[in-house]
Amino acid sequence: MEPGVTRNHVSVAEASRANRRWWDADADSYQAEHGAFLGDVDLLWCPEGVREATAGLLGAVEGRRTLEVGCGSAAGSRWLVTQGARAVALDLSAGMLRHASRLNEKTGIRAQLVQGDASALPLVAESFDVAFTAFGAVPFVSDSARVMREVYRVLRPGGRWVFSVTHPMRWIFLDDPGEGGLVAVHSYFDRRPYVEHDEHGVPTYVEQHRTLGDRIRELVAAGFTVLDVVEPEWPEGHDRIWGQWSPLRGRLFPGTAIFVTRKPISP
Ligand SMILES: C[S@@+](CC[C@H](N)C(=O)[O-])C[C@H]1O[C@@H](n2cnc3c(N)ncnc32)[C@H](O)[C@@H]1O
Repeated sequence: MEPGVTRNHVSVAEASRANRRWWDADADSYQAEHGAFLGDVDLLWCPEGVREATAGLLGAVEGRRTLEVGCGSAAGSRWLVTQGARAVALDLSAGMLRHASRLNEKTGIRAQLVQGDASALPLVAESFDVAFTAFGAVPFVSDSARVMREVYRVLRPGGRWVFSVTHPMRWIFLDDPGEGGLVAVHSYFDRRPYVEHDEHGVPTYVEQHRTLGDRIRELVAAGFTVLDVVEPEWPEGHDRIWGQWSPLRGRLFPGTAIFVTRKPISP
């Protein structure tokens, strides 16, 4: 069998194994490719270049305890430290956390690093004021509803949960930043994940799809109030291609959805 790409059902165990291995194996090349754009101390929400410094989606963070779920190099958490937050950055991947630790040392700005799975956060209930992630964890877990419940559990009443993911409408297109990515070829309603597999048919990368309605439903079921769904527009003059994000496609339809939510003060 040739290595390839499919949309196919995979078991929870297969998806979890692929996820763990992929991010460990990819950590160095991900940093080499995207590290300069992400910065060492910056909270960038998406390839469109929306920054927390200007967007203010997390609300006030000074003196607050923040949790980054799927932090990668933890640049976002270090930026929050500079804003006066007490930042904890969690990731599944030891490879990614090695970069986070290296950049903590390099910058002298230290987020507390924790290895763990977003599906079973190794954290005490109601111990954070803010939780967030830019493309971390959520697209890679089989049961994202469970992640919503876990984040709800660790947040204090009134706390915000803000996360960015690939905009669900991108699912209908090929993963192509060029003309090939402008033609609808997949059903929006097909929830089978995007799977890359090796020559033995073993999944090596698995990305999950939820429709916009699915995401809202999972948030509401967990107990969150949805405050906003931000769909960043492609900025004039921004010409950087990141995977399937490009000026060509960005001018026509959204590439990112940012869900801004809050745990109610009283349930
Ligand atoms: C696309 S990267 C995003 C990292 C960072 N937020 C950024 O903007 O570069 C996805 C991250 O999610 C992490 N991740 C994937 N599945 C996870 C899980 N179940 N629990 C925690 N982290 C996970 C990966 O290890 C990786 O660091």
